[in-house]
Amino acid sequence: MSIDPADLDRSGLRLDIDDSLPAGCVATVTLNRPQRRNAMTPAMWRGLAAIGAGLPGRVRVVVVRGAGPSFSAGIDLRMFSAEGVPGEDPLPRADDPGFEQWIAACQEGFTWLRDPRIVSVAVVRGHAIGAGCQLALSCDLRLLADDARLCIKEPALGLVPDLTGTKPLVDILGLPRALELCLTGRSMDAREAGELGLAELVVPAADLDGAVDDLVAGLLTADADAARATKELLTQAQGHTLDQQAAAERSSQAALQRARLRR
Ligand code: CAA
Repeated sequence: MSIDPADLDRSGLRLDIDDSLPAGCVATVTLNRPQRRNAMTPAMWRGLAAIGAGLPGRVRVVVVRGAGPSFSAGIDLRMFSAEGVPGEDPLPRADDPGFEQWIAACQEGFTWLRDPRIVSVAVVRGHAIGAGCQLALSCDLRLLADDARLCIKEPALGLVPDLTGTKPLVDILGLPRALELCLTGRSMDAREAGELGLAELVVPAADLDGAVDDLVAGLLTADADAARATKELLTQAQGHTLDQQAAAERSSQAALQRARLRR
């Protein structure tokens, strides 16, 4: 599937693909509605899904960032008003038989970031609220500027977080802290996010771009096939017993090395 830059632009997204690095190709997805703090709409989520579906196979690292001072202020709150967002379909009603299917389509904008063929990195400056926070949580790694603030706002607005953020939240934080964060709706600063494991790295805002370059270069030092197989293994590990995981390691190693012998 090809990705039309004009369609992306209309949905508030930009995609840049950098083939210049000798170690591998890097895609940068930018939420590009800075005047609204990168507030998101269902069209933006469909655009993210289209990027995931159409991403060239040579891409090894995907960097997700926001233009301007915030990563994302979450859903465009005008979606909840009678006027809505110009050019956007209104939100479906919950008693519409297609309601859950509609959410599933929105979730596709978030799930592809876990694909083992890529490593995804959220680069967060300023606020990541609601859907914006769930997008950062959907990435494999998070790199935060020291002015970053994360907030799960949905329950305060009468919603549940339904854009695939609850699993990484509990996987990383455990149930008690995840519950406390979701139900209080409090904003967590970058220092606390780093201490709790929600960020792999917290750096001064002025050093953010350099830190992204260093992290990407580091990730690309791994052999591409080994990186993919290792991400698959690590992703399965939490749901496996030690015996199951040891068996998965054996079969992954065998498949990787047999593929190498065939080359
Ligand atoms: N939707 C629509 N417009 C938004 C917006 C949002 N979520 N967030 C910010 N904007 C707009 C503001 O209305 C303002 O527009 P004008 O210039 O036309 O007045 C512009 O962006 C700049 O906003 P601020 O002046 O408020 O910027 P700031 O830097 O001082 O504050 C902010 C930034 C803390 C993110 C603040 O704007 C804010 O709290 N926004 C609302 C956040 C929110 O509650 N989001 C919903 C999350 S829940 C969710 O996402 C649910 C889901 O998935 C379904």
